[in-house]
Amino acid sequence: MQLVLDYLKQHEPRFIDDLCTYLRFPSVSAQSKHKGDLEACAQWLVDYCRRMGLEVSLCRTEGNPVVVARTPRSGHGNGDGSGRRRGAQSQGQRPHYLVYGHYDVQPPEPFELWKSPPFEPRLEDGRVYARGAVDNKGQHLAHLIAVEAYLKTGTPLPCDLTFVIEGEEEVGSKSLGGFLQKNVRNLRCDGVVISDNGLPSLKLPALTYALRGILAVEVTLHGPSRDLHSGIYGGSVENPAMALCQLLAQLRDARGRIAIPGFYRDVLPLSSYERKQLRKLPGSDSDLRRFVGVPQLFGEQGYTSMERRCARPTIEINGLTSGYQGEGSKTIVPAWARAKLTFRLVPKQRPDKLEALLSRHLRKLCPPTVRLEVGPGHGGEPYLVSPTGPQAQAALRALKAAFHHEPVLIREGGSIPIVNAFKKCLGVDTLLLGLALPDDNPHSPNEKFDLACFTTGMRMGAHLWQELGRN
Ligand code: BES
Ligand code: MN
Repeated sequence: MQLVLDYLKQHEPRFIDDLCTYLRFPSVSAQSKHKGDLEACAQWLVDYCRRMGLEVSLCRTEGNPVVVARTPRSGHGNGDGSGRRRGAQSQGQRPHYLVYGHYDVQPPEPFELWKSPPFEPRLEDGRVYARGAVDNKGQHLAHLIAVEAYLKTGTPLPCDLTFVIEGEEEVGSKSLGGFLQKNVRNLRCDGVVISDNGLPSLKLPALTYALRGILAVEVTLHGPSRDLHSGIYGGSVENPAMALCQLLAQLRDARGRIAIPGFYRDVLPLSSYERKQLRKLPGSDSDLRRFVGVPQLFGEQGYTSMERRCARPTIEINGLTSGYQGEGSKTIVPAWARAKLTFRLVPKQRPDKLEALLSRHLRKLCPPTVRLEVGPGHGGEPYLVSPTGPQAQAALRALKAAFHHEPVLIREGGSIPIVNAFKKCLGVDTLLLGLALPDDNPHSPNEKFDLACFTTGMRMGAHLWQELGRN
C-alpha cells in the first residue's frame, strides 16, 4: 500500500497535466455542435485507461458512447465476470465494484463571466479552473489514477473494478439505463462507487447518503401564428409571455411551497435526529448569502437553508424565453413563450407521478387564449440509503485515512438519477464520496477543482479498495 501512496505522490505533476489534457475537450452534451468533441474525449479516455493497464471498450449507444474499463481479472475462474453471482463478496468470492463517472460537461455559457476560457484549464492557487474540472472529470480521474498506482506498482488490488464512464449525464443519462440492462451479466457487482458530489471542506470529508431527485419539463404557450405588431393587435390578442408569467407565478406560494395539489403527498419528513445532525454541519446563512450574492436568502418557511437545499423539494425556472431578446426594442406580441422548469424531489416522491400532477394542474390554470404544450421532460428518482452497513463503514475508514479527519454523513441537493438504475438493475447500493468543495462552481462560470481534493481523492480511492476488500 505504501508503494501505491508513494507512486501517487511521486507522479503528482503528471496527473495534473493529464487532468488539464482531459479538460481541454469541450465535451458539452447539451449542444449538438460538440458531438465530435464528445467522441474525441471518449476516445482519449479509452487510450488513457488502456495505457494504465485496464481492459477497455468503447461501447456505442444511441447517444454518446460509454467507456467501460476493467481491471485485469486475476484467477478464480471468473475472468469475464459472468461466473459471479450477486453479492459475490458475501459468498467468499473476490469483491467486484463499479466506479461511475461522466465525461460530458455542462454548457460553459455565459463566456464573458469566465476569468479564463472554459476549455483552456488555468492553474492558480492550487486549483484548476475549467468547465468539467469538478463536475465530473477531476473526480473520476482521481479514481482512475488510484488504480493506475496499484497496476503500475504491481500491488495486488483487493477488489475487481469496472469503471463505467458515460457521456450523457448532464442531459439525463438517456442511454445508460438501457446499457446497464443489456450488460447486467458483466456488471453484476457488490456495490457502486461515485464521486460526483460534494464535501463540506477538506477537514470534513463526507459520505453522502441521500440525493434529491429531479423532474424536468418544458412548458410552452403558443399564441398567434406569428409575432404581431403590438400596437395594432396588442390588447385584442393574448400575450403568451404574459400568460406564461401568470401561469408560472401560480406554481409557488408566498411561503415558498409548491402550489400543485398533491405535490407534498409522498414527501418523507426529516426525522428530528437528522435535523439535529444537519444543524451540526458548518456554513452559516450569512456565508451562504454572501457566496451566492443575493440581498437576502429565500426558502420554504420552517426549514434551515441546509434542510431546504438537501431534504425539501423545490421548483426552479431554469430558462425563460419569448419575444425579442436583441439590442434595442421591438414592439411585438410574441407568437410563443417557453419556460424550462425543474423540480427537485426528495425521498418517496416519484417524477412520473408528479409530472402527471403538474400537467393536470397546468391545464387547469391555462387560459383558453393560448395553447399549452408540456414536454419534453426527463426525471430521476431521489436516493436514500442507510449509512450503517459494512460498505459504508469501509468507506468512512477510507475517508479518514485519506483526509486525516473524521468524516461526516451528509445529504445533498443535486441529483444523480443513475444511482436508482444501479439499485434496480444490479440490486446494489452506491457509495457517494464527493470531492467537490462548496465553492467549486459546478454548472457556473469559473468552475474549478481544488488540487488538494484531486490528490486526496486519489488516496481515498487507494484506501477504499483496501477497506472494501477487507469486508
Ligand atoms: N454532479 C452533479 C450532481 C450533484 C451535484 C450531486 C452536487 C450532488 C451534489 C451532476 O453532474 C448533475 O449536475 N446532475 C444533474 C442531473 C440532471 C441533469 C438530471 C443535476 O443535478 O442537475
Ligand atoms: Mn456531475
